[in-house]
Amino acid sequence: MTELSRPVRVIQWCTGKIGQIAIRHLVANPRFELVGVYTTSAAKEGVDAGLLAGIGPVGVPATTDKEALFALEADCVNYLPLAVDVEDLERLLRSGKNVVTAVGLTFPPPEDERTQRLEAACQAGGTTLHGGGVHPGFAGDILPLVTSRLISRIDQVVVTEVCDFSEHPQAELLFGLFGFGLSPEEAHKHATAVTGEVDAPYEESIALLAAALGLRVERNTHELTMAVADRDITIAAGAIPAGKVAGIRRRWEAIVDGRPAIVFVSEWKMADGLTPAIREGSNRYIVEFLGEPATRITLEPLEPSATGDPGYPGRIWTGMSVVNLIHDVVAAAPGIRTHLDLPLGRPQGLFHEGTTWRGPLPVAR
Ligand SMILES: NC(=O)c1ccc[n+]([C@@H]2O[C@H](COP(=O)([O-])OP(=O)(O)OC[C@H]3O[C@@H](n4cnc5c(N)ncnc54)[C@H](OP(=O)(O)O)[C@@H]3O)[C@@H](O)[C@H]2O)c1
Repeated sequence: MTELSRPVRVIQWCTGKIGQIAIRHLVANPRFELVGVYTTSAAKEGVDAGLLAGIGPVGVPATTDKEALFALEADCVNYLPLAVDVEDLERLLRSGKNVVTAVGLTFPPPEDERTQRLEAACQAGGTTLHGGGVHPGFAGDILPLVTSRLISRIDQVVVTEVCDFSEHPQAELLFGLFGFGLSPEEAHKHATAVTGEVDAPYEESIALLAAALGLRVERNTHELTMAVADRDITIAAGAIPAGKVAGIRRRWEAIVDGRPAIVFVSEWKMADGLTPAIREGSNRYIVEFLGEPATRITLEPLEPSATGDPGYPGRIWTGMSVVNLIHDVVAAAPGIRTHLDLPLGRPQGLFHEGTTWRGPLPVAR
């Protein structure tokens, strides 16, 4: 594929929270043209994508008709369903459309049947597939990798995610998939059942960073800690009684030469003040290098959401992490292309002109 001089034609696949962010961006950024929108929802069939995304009509109706979208001329699909459907992805890739996604696939194991099917589809269609996201997809792989260029000796890299889900509205995800609200014993059993679904994407990021830093990983460990509150907690998705799981810590270690060389910690919580302690404060990602020089980078919002959006800015970071790579993905050689294959990224159309410019930020903060 070669670089395009015209706007890149994009199909938005699914219109959830991050899909809506993408629609708003694809419509506003002149380097893109939104040409199609897929939805799983019969209620959204025929509804203008702009209305679904909370802006005015944009002339592109959402459709549940996958066949029409497979047949549509487009350069790239921004694939954001709840879970990967390999057949859909194969058909999109075979039909000549590149695909970016934040739903895993950051470093798919080459020996997996799924990876092989997707690679074959890329080769058949002359297309590229890239998986990103803020974490997994950025904070634990590309961010520490780029930062490692500043370091002279690394003893350990620790990547910590702090996520407060108290304003998240989806009970099915929080209680059903993650296991909040269960007793710690039930939650441990439940977590084992869903481990693959929740953990696999993080493990791909660890593998990517290890490969990039030339590490030979002997084994990976995974530790799960359930934290409870001594009081009842009310959250957007429901209630969590005292003594039930209100915090979950996952810790992965990639062991090299008998030592944990890469450590990922995910601290998910519904409130502060839990036992055992889960990291307090706002959502953020922290990358720490133990070594010379010991170095810390924190990825955190500079200001709260203007609209009170509880997912701010993580959802924007997630959506843009792949949208901003679309031009590079379209220009890349066919195949599954990870951060290790693609250039650093040259996002287009991010600097707006005129009224969207804001004044300088206050210096003291
Ligand atoms: N890597 C990262 O950093 C990262 C971070 C956050 C989220 N994510 C992932 O990004 C994806 C989108 O997140 P989101 O916050 O936009 O989620 P969301 O608001 O829950 O939206 C997901 C959308 O998927 C579609 N959908 C519903 N049921 C489905 C099913 N059974 N199978 C397939 N698709 C279904 C729906 O689209 P329609 O309404 O159009 O039918 C739904 O709105 C999720 O898979 C999430 O795990 C990744």
